[in-house]
This record gives sequence, C-alpha cells and structure tokens, in this order.
Amino acid sequence: MLPKAELHVHIEGTLEPGLLVRLAARNGVTLPAAGTRGRTDRYRFTGLQSFLDLYYANLPVLRTEEDFHDLARAYLVRAASAGVRRAEIFFDPQAHLANGVPLEVVFAGLSAAVEESAEVSAELILCFLRDLGAQAAEEMLRAAMPFRERFTGVGLDSAEAGFPPSLFREVFRRAAAEGLHRVAHAGEEGGPDYVWEALDVLGAERIDHGIRAMEDPVLVGRLRDERIPLTVCPLSNVALNVVPSLAAHPLPAMLEEGLLVSVHSDDPAYFGGYADDNFAAVQREFGLDEDALALLARNSFDSCFASEKDRERWK
Ligand code: HPA
Ligand code: ZN
Repeated sequence: MLPKAELHVHIEGTLEPGLLVRLAARNGVTLPAAGTRGRTDRYRFTGLQSFLDLYYANLPVLRTEEDFHDLARAYLVRAASAGVRRAEIFFDPQAHLANGVPLEVVFAGLSAAVEESAEVSAELILCFLRDLGAQAAEEMLRAAMPFRERFTGVGLDSAEAGFPPSLFREVFRRAAAEGLHRVAHAGEEGGPDYVWEALDVLGAERIDHGIRAMEDPVLVGRLRDERIPLTVCPLSNVALNVVPSLAAHPLPAMLEEGLLVSVHSDDPAYFGGYADDNFAAVQREFGLDEDALALLARNSFDSCFASEKDRERWK
C-alpha cells in the first residue's frame, strides 16, 4: 500500500454504523431513525447541511473517555491498513460540549488512542464550528488551553455558506500567538473569496477542500506560487453534490495547474471510503499512472506539519 498522510479526516466522521450501534447500546442512547440506515443502505445526502444534520444527530452516542478512545483507535487501525503513516485528525469539541460531555473526557479518550498508535504518527487539530460564531470559538479556544499540549493546531469546519473566514480573525490570531497551526475549510460550499479570506485574514497554512479556488485564476496563481496545500476529498465532494460526478471533479485540472493537492477522506464512514478508497477512486476515474499517484502521496507528506526528517522517512 502506497504510504501517505491523511490530513483531512474528521474523527467523528469515522463513526462506522457498527460502532455507532454498539456505543448506543453501551450508553443506553436512542439513535435517530436515520442513524443506522448505513447498515443496509449507503447514506444519501443532498448537500453539506443534510450530511451535517445526520453527523450531529449521531454524536450523542459518544459519552465516555472509552467511547472517544474506541472511535479513534478504530480509525487509526483502519488508516494503517490504508497505508497512512501520518494522520492530522480533526475533532469538534463544541459538538460534544453541547451534548454534555466535558472537554477533559474528549481529550483523554482521543489522546490515549493517538499516543498508543504505533503504526500511524497522529496529531489532533481542534476545529471551531463556524455556524456557532466567533465568540463561541474564542470561548472554545480559551477552554482548550489547559490541553494545549494535546493538539497541534486549529481548524474551521461545519456549515460554510454564510460564515466567512473573516468572522474568525481574532480567534485565529490568538491561536497563532499560542504557536498553533492554522487550517480552514474553504472553497467547498463557499466561493474563492472564502479561500482568499482564509489565507489573508486567518493566516491559514493549509486549505481544506479549496476546489472552488479553480474559479479564480489569480487565486490559482497564488496557491501555486506559494505552494499552499489543498486537502481535496473526492468521494466527499461527490457524496455532498459539491461536484455532479467524480468525472467532473477538478482534481486533474488542479494537478495540471501544478497545485500542491493531496487526496483525503473527510468523513469516511459517511462518504464511502478511507484514504485508500479515495486513491483507488481517482486512479480508476482519471486513469492516473503510478507517477501521478506517487505525486499525490508525496504531496500529502509535503503538506503535513511533521518535521522534515519524519516526512522524508515516511516517503
Ligand atoms: N465539511 C464541513 N464540516 C464538516 C465536515 C465536512 O465534510 N465534516 C465534519 N464537519
Ligand atoms: Zn472536512
């Protein structure tokens, strides 16, 4: 299996139907009717919000340190089998706080799995839910500071349209002052203007998705010249109707433009595939040869926050 880095995965989006049902039973939580549909039928979504509705509806099954540990452990085992050597994993603590789960429970469970992972070098990236607004994000960052050593950066996720990056200027400035890495979802639902803002206002070091940057040639030039990483999730984009079909995905055009793109899985339990599945899908659809796949894998390491020495070792 080709060695690669997974830089765009939401740990909550790795909650497979089997584990979902087990955790619901273990905690005596009643699942929403749609929650277990994936056991028999592939989840179907009309757009980002229809997915997020189910994603959040399933999260109340996560209650204890053991639950968070089991979730992350299962992901890391699966990732290792996909050739993942390095994983920079998003998590959404605001969603768990809203479900009454204390922050220390979330950190303890996820960190334990990360620390015991021998196969995959893993780090956590704390994401702010953009639809909860800037003040909630600032409170979240403050509350997370006692756990500063357990996460390497901050990100911005959840409903994108109507919540531009510029709203989060102050919280990203504070995160930078704490020495945290900064990434942001932009250019999935939102247009190229959101990618500009993520770069110029938030100081984002990496753009998650960013596929709509292709609508703006000046932005494409900047992304290329500055080698700004874009973490692209092809199966997610198809599942959420961000692109009409895999054949219509801009990945080949992005490679053609010389952008630093890499391929990732986003919410693999919901979108039908882990890192290896996403690689296989684009290989099949676009007839990528070994050199093109090797470039995508190398780009994933070049886009990660590990040391140069580790990156070279994994490649
Ligand atoms: N997009 C935006 N926010 C998210 C996603 C996603 O795919 N998954 C979890 N939060
Ligand atoms: Zn995402």
